This record gives sequence, structure tokens and C-alpha cells, in this order.
Amino acid sequence: MRTPIIAGNWKMHKTYDGAMDLVEALMDELDNVEGAEVVLCPPFPWLLAVAEYLEETPILLGAQDCYWADEGAFTGEVSALMLKDLTQYCIVGHSERRALFGETDESVNKKVHALIEHGIRPICCVGEREAEREAGETDTFVTGQVRAALAGVSAEGALMIVMAYEPIWAIGTGRAATAEEANRVCGLIRNAIEELYGAPTAEGVRIQYGGSVSGRNAAELMRQPEIDGALIGGASLRADEFAAIVRAAAEG
Ligand code: PGA
Repeated sequence: MRTPIIAGNWKMHKTYDGAMDLVEALMDELDNVEGAEVVLCPPFPWLLAVAEYLEETPILLGAQDCYWADEGAFTGEVSALMLKDLTQYCIVGHSERRALFGETDESVNKKVHALIEHGIRPICCVGEREAEREAGETDTFVTGQVRAALAGVSAEGALMIVMAYEPIWAIGTGRAATAEEANRVCGLIRNAIEELYGAPTAEGVRIQYGGSVSGRNAAELMRQPEIDGALIGGASLRADEFAAIVRAAAEG
């Protein structure tokens, strides 16, 4: 049985005070929730403060990105080495980083390697744009991204990874994929992993769905056999909404 994992990607939201208020509200809402792993991914400057809040709780911490080199003249970047004592997870390959900040399949792969080397679990995002979807290219596009992200990664390393299927047309639009379609593509990702590593590894890797997940649609999505949790953007900024999704995953 794979434990579902719900990760909240706060993106570039929340001042210090707002971040602390959100964490406090989340801790109240999520007190006693069992059966799902919960990860908060606040902006870099608040990681340490949020980590202190979470110390005595089962809630885990993630970064939203990292750089692959350990250290050096890379102004503005934060390395996996620097994150390793602070976060258990790190998002890589989010479509916003791919579309706005030049992230490529190659850089995603380098980041995956760096994170695994430092014992941080990558949450690796893949997903097609509206154009690929309309052209009927979703399957080849997503499979290609999965293969590229995993290039050179051992089976042991692959088991550390959480894949996140995030169709770009569904992110922040209020237009989530249907549970059936999300389940289908998550299954496709699992097949791609099976081709690379065999069934036992593929069965062990958790695959999230992300894109306009809310308290309203979470239960149906979380009931799907291939979907092992969700990556949440907008709804992770509201404690009650995020907690409702976590409960849906724990029950699903
Ligand atoms: P959304 O974002 O939940 O606001 O659609 C998801 C994401 O970008 O990970």
C-alpha cells in the first residue's frame, strides 16, 4: 500500500506574518490526521521558521526548487546540499519553472540526481500543455518527460521520487482533469517507470495529480487507484481547504 502524499506548493505567496498565520491554522486543522503524508512547500525565506513550527508534528517540509551544484558562483540559487538539513522534499520541474525560468528536461534530471544524492525526495512535475493535449500528444509528451527526468537514476533512487502529473491547462484555472483522465495518465506514468525499472519499483513509486484540486473534487480524485495524492497550489493557501483535501486523501 502506498501512503498518499499531499503537498502544498505556496508558490510566491505569503509575507512572513502571513506564512506564520497559515502554518498555525494548518496545525490546528491537521491535528490528528492520519493515513496521509503532508508536505508544506513555502517560499525559501520562510523555510527555517516553518521548520521550527513543524518540529514536533508529522508534517514535512519541502522546497519549491533547487540548484544541482553543491556550491559555487551561482547568484540567487539554493543547492540541494543547503536544503538537506532542512527539507525532506523538493519540487522540481514545475511547469511554471519550465515556462518562465528556462527549466528543461536536462536541468530537471540534474536536480533529481542532486536531490537523491543528498537524501531529499524530489517531487518531480510533468504534464502537457493545452497544445499537446489538443494534438493528441499527451501520452508521448508526458512519457518523454518522465524518461528524461529519470535518466541515469537507479531503482533505489527512483523509489525516493514522487511523480506529480500536472496538466498545465489545469493549473490555477479551476478546470481540473477528470478523475478518469488523471487516473489514466498517472497509470501511464507508472507504466513508463515499470518499463525502466520493473514492476516492484513501479508499484512503489507514488504519483500525485495536480491542477485545480480543491475540497470539492479531492475525494473523487483521491479514490482513483493510480493516484497517490495531490500537489496543491491555490487551495494550499487556505487551511480549511487544504485540510479537507488531506482528509480526502487519508480516506481515499
Ligand atoms: P493549482 O496549482 O492547485 O493552483 O491549480 C497546482 C500547482 O501548480 O502545483
